Amino acid sequence: MSELTGRTALVTGATSGIGKATAVALGALGATVIVHGRDAQRGAQAVKEVEAAGGRARFLAADLREPAEITRLAQEAGEIDILVNNAGSSWFGPTADLDVDTYDKLFDGNVRSTYLLTAAVAPAMAARGEGSIVSLDSMAGSVGLAGGAAYSATKASIAALTRAWAAEFSPSGVRVNAVAPGPVYSDGANTATIDSLAATTLLGRGAKPEEIAEVIAFLSTPRAGYVTGATIAVDGGRTAV
Ligand SMILES: NC(=O)c1ccc[n+]([C@@H]2O[C@H](COP(=O)([O-])OP(=O)(O)OC[C@H]3O[C@@H](n4cnc5c(N)ncnc54)[C@H](OP(=O)(O)O)[C@@H]3O)[C@@H](O)[C@H]2O)c1
Repeated sequence: MSELTGRTALVTGATSGIGKATAVALGALGATVIVHGRDAQRGAQAVKEVEAAGGRARFLAADLREPAEITRLAQEAGEIDILVNNAGSSWFGPTADLDVDTYDKLFDGNVRSTYLLTAAVAPAMAARGEGSIVSLDSMAGSVGLAGGAAYSATKASIAALTRAWAAEFSPSGVRVNAVAPGPVYSDGANTATIDSLAATTLLGRGAKPEEIAEVIAFLSTPRAGYVTGATIAVDGGRTAV
């Protein structure tokens, strides 16, 4: 028996980067993992990687910018014990260059998606009296990065949602937390951008996706049983000074 045996985890954006590393980590702890993404080929690869680490997984596709697809995803996923709201994207550039369509896609994909999926999953967790929700914030949510205004606002929203959901669901036994990574060399990240941000951290380097996944996995276990409403910085000390 492993720590999460008998638990089902839904990890959004698990076809890549931090999400895939989290799926592997939760699978290795015994959870049955629902690997979510849009790209079926990358989904199949992620499922293989979870299985290679000794876990069980299946892939479900959904575009989280579409509310109807979120509803379908939650229905197809069934009973969820651990929800990791990881899927997201970023946009960096001069504020005046961000067109309305890209702005809306950023907020729909990073904030509305997290809101609607949590709304679809958390009440059932609360009714069962247990569950864990971890959402991906970013150091960009709490420090000013030139060119990152809109992305930072989406990520600051995650911390606010996390606190409010802890107030709403934790009295029913559901722990709700966020993780705020610093620069991470994920599949989707621009290496030059990560290199320059990495140099600003106290540790002087960027993270591997597995270093973020380790903290998300811990928060998903009973070992983090007294942690709720928290946003944990995993940023090489970038926001400490
Ligand atoms: N990398 C960093 O430096 C960093 C730092 C702080 C916070 N974060 C946050 O951590 C999370 C993961 O980042 P990452 O760098 O690991 O990402 P990534 O490698 O770019 O992967 C993004 C994942 O999200 C999925 N996704 C994106 N938009 C989606 C949508 N509309 N519908 C469904 N799936 C969608 C992608 O799925 P498909 O491609 O299969 O569709 C993919 O699996 C994000 O929330 C990001 O903001 C990242």
